[in-house]
Amino acid sequence: MVKICCIGAGYVGGPTMAMIALKCPDIEVAVVDISVPRIAAWNSEVLPIFEPGLDEVVKACRSRNLFFSTDVEKHVSEAGIVFVSVNTPTKTRGLGAGKAADLTYWESAARMIADVSKSDKIVVEKSTVPVKTAEAIEKILSHNNKGVSFQILSNPEFLAEGTAMEDLKSPDRVLIGGRETPAGRKAVQALKAVYAHWVPEDRILTTNLWSAELSKLAANAFLAQRISSINAMSALCESTGADVAEVAYAIGKDSRIGSRFLNASVGFGGSCFQKDILNLVYICECNGLIDIANYWKQVVQINDYQKSRFVQRVVSSMFNTVSGKKIAVLGFAFKKDTGDTRETPAIDVCNGLLGDKALLSIYDPQVTEQQIRRDLSMNKFDWDHPQHLQPLNLSDSVNLVQVSKDAYEATKNAHGLCILTEWDEFRKLDYQKIYQQMQKPAFVFDGRNVANVVELRKIGFIVYSIGKPLDPWMRDLPAASSF
Ligand SMILES: NC(=O)c1ccc[n+]([C@@H]2O[C@H](COP(=O)([O-])OP(=O)(O)OC[C@H]3O[C@@H](n4cnc5c(N)ncnc54)[C@H](O)[C@@H]3O)[C@@H](O)[C@H]2O)c1
Repeated sequence: MVKICCIGAGYVGGPTMAMIALKCPDIEVAVVDISVPRIAAWNSEVLPIFEPGLDEVVKACRSRNLFFSTDVEKHVSEAGIVFVSVNTPTKTRGLGAGKAADLTYWESAARMIADVSKSDKIVVEKSTVPVKTAEAIEKILSHNNKGVSFQILSNPEFLAEGTAMEDLKSPDRVLIGGRETPAGRKAVQALKAVYAHWVPEDRILTTNLWSAELSKLAANAFLAQRISSINAMSALCESTGADVAEVAYAIGKDSRIGSRFLNASVGFGGSCFQKDILNLVYICECNGLIDIANYWKQVVQINDYQKSRFVQRVVSSMFNTVSGKKIAVLGFAFKKDTGDTRETPAIDVCNGLLGDKALLSIYDPQVTEQQIRRDLSMNKFDWDHPQHLQPLNLSDSVNLVQVSKDAYEATKNAHGLCILTEWDEFRKLDYQKIYQQMQKPAFVFDGRNVANVVELRKIGFIVYSIGKPLDPWMRDLPAASSF
């Protein structure tokens, strides 16, 4: 039986391996991690991550041909194909700090593979890595091997959290990059055969290693760029009276542009977009392509601008101060249908409001109180390290935060409410009831355009909705700060 091992039981390693186990009953899949609580959770009734459809797949395969273990070395040494899906955070110090990818976890995984391997292996980069990482990994493996041969493949993951299981079941494409040598081509075919269990052949693309590595960074840069582009338009819409939803609809009808990824919002988040663009910027700089680096940097800057613009709208609308005022925050995850809060715009928005001494009351259907407090205390980029290595010093401002059990509790006696995640349940709330229990004037700041502005205004709310014609209350107030 072919054995696969995946190092890193996170948002990528867990779901991707569960799908391989489901679709390939002839393959034994072991997912390993250095985090004991994470592996314990994968082996329990409550999985460590929330992802629609994941529970069913894990329960169908676990202990059949899918195993979760902390015995990293045993499973790596037994496997023919080793996926590496560990964290690749942004460096916080040293050369490239704030931009370059920190490959510490990758390097230690590679050294461990070299140490424990007694048979030939295919090592697959699943983590998102800088272009040319495979070359560095090859060097580590080949300088430490004991007569064992390794083939490195790049197989970046394109799943989106919230729809990961659907994305894995019917991917737009699977990308496999390998060396253009007979051994490299053979390794590519071996990995292709795994995916061919369920992915149509024409959707499995094979390229050279560097194209595969760069394509992942390029895909995320293009996706994030669309969001920053429509968000840039949202600011202009507010200044001119245009409606960003109408503009998005009109331009999305152009088949050259297409309609997806054109929702204006408080900003993009998630573990990948910012990290991958900063990484791309760094690679451009290292290659002397300063103008190209600056071009991509703007995508992140507009995202930061959008978040600070939102905070400024809240503060300026509420008589230029939110000090001591209760503000309800509905939604903390970076998007709906996930409990993931990595780089969620809610962190920057909440910290912005806390900076002005607001009293926050936060509700999210999937994010725990402990996670919210941790996120609001953490330094930039610290989140992307294995949890047991994250520093935990709860900052004083976290005392101004209360975490609520539902939207009604969160909004009781609040002066304003901010919608920061597009959870479906926020579309269906009883806003009349919410209005009655809030202080007056009662404000809604909709950072995801989920609420019905006309209905809310009819109830009596003063409403700000990103990129929509402004409420008369806000028309002459300062709208934006520069970054
Ligand atoms: N989350 C996404 O949507 C997504 C999508 C595509 C690609 N990626 C990329 O995939 C990679 C993993 O992302 P993730 O979201 O799954 O991260 P994650 O933090 O959820 O998981 C990484 C896991 O690796 C473990 N780990 C770190 N070093 C280890 C080691 N030496 N041995 C064993 N385990 C180790 C950590 O404990 C952690 O559980 C990153 O490079 C990311 O950029 C993420």
